[in-house]
Amino acid sequence: MKVPFIDLERQHKPIKKDLMQAFERVLDSNKFILSDEVKKFEEEIAAYTKTKHAIGVSNCTNALLLSLRALGIGPGDEVITTPFTFVATAEVIAIIGAKPVFCDIERQTFNIDTGKIKEQISGRTRAIIPVHLFGQAADMTSLTRVTKDHGLKVIEDMAQAIGARYKGQMVGNFGDTACISFYVTKNLNALGDAGMILTNDAKLDSLIRAYRVHGAYKKYHHDFLGYNDRLDAMQAAFLRIKLTQLDAWNERRRQIARKYDDALRDVVATPYISGDNESVYHQYTVRAARRDELNKFLNEQGIATAIHYPVPLHLQPAFRYLGYREGDFPVAEKAANEVLSLPIQQDLTDEEIDYVIKNVRQFYGK
Ligand SMILES: Cc1ncc(COP(=O)(O)O)c(C=O)c1O
Repeated sequence: MKVPFIDLERQHKPIKKDLMQAFERVLDSNKFILSDEVKKFEEEIAAYTKTKHAIGVSNCTNALLLSLRALGIGPGDEVITTPFTFVATAEVIAIIGAKPVFCDIERQTFNIDTGKIKEQISGRTRAIIPVHLFGQAADMTSLTRVTKDHGLKVIEDMAQAIGARYKGQMVGNFGDTACISFYVTKNLNALGDAGMILTNDAKLDSLIRAYRVHGAYKKYHHDFLGYNDRLDAMQAAFLRIKLTQLDAWNERRRQIARKYDDALRDVVATPYISGDNESVYHQYTVRAARRDELNKFLNEQGIATAIHYPVPLHLQPAFRYLGYREGDFPVAEKAANEVLSLPIQQDLTDEEIDYVIKNVRQFYGK
């Protein structure tokens, strides 16, 4: 048996007719950039996440970048984030000329350790970017306490967490802005790159909309320098179809997670979801003894896996200039050596999940 990590053909087969109709609708409209299609999708995402404003952009990396810009962060400023995330989270801080400052993670959730944030705050700190990693929100109660005390801005990196809840509330409502990725492997995925910025602040909404189109509130009138960072109408049309399926897909992910939890908790450390959280299981990431051997074994049995992430950001060559060393963030470093993500795409069959379970157990002689 072969168990894929992601199989887009399976995902698209049942909705192919709808996707083709959407394609034709946009093709016939001859409106390919922003347009009514994007406006409707923005309204639907705002309604879904229960936020006031949603701004369609080209991807989540740029969503983070525009958020930082709109919050006035730049050279001389510091922004705190986690070293255990996809590179984009910290990359954008450096790209706009500010300094990324890392803070270690919690052992159990892999999210930023809010108890350690204060140690990283300096007179130059302006903002924090918590990442809701693998589909589970960071501890936003204690994070907000720290940011309120120190007057810091918050950008939620919810690239992996659309639909997740924290204390019953949708993620995306805890920061000054929140950034979503619709990258092809995400829970809500475009047929290409796409992203969205959420905010409950009307001023930020209009500022970000201007940043999105070369710093113009009015066409050809440029108040400041901005970007070309617009969402395509075609992607919005595809995503509108998929959004109607998202809750069902996330529920199926949770069902698969429960199956894995029950069958694997005696052989690996299964994901810990805090009592405050409802995860959307973007990844099902375990901690495993002899991780690399297990990984090789599963791959040989036809099971696709992934390591999120093998090298924490403070040890990446790209961030060497920051001067961090091995041992600076021991929890993140240990996680990088132990984590393994098992297939959890909603389209997997129960037989495939059973096959993964059987092989993980077999590896540990159970
Ligand atoms: C945590 C996190 N942040 C940011 C990004 C960047 O998203 P995008 O690929 O849409 O730019 C990703 C996606 O890969 C991510 O997982």
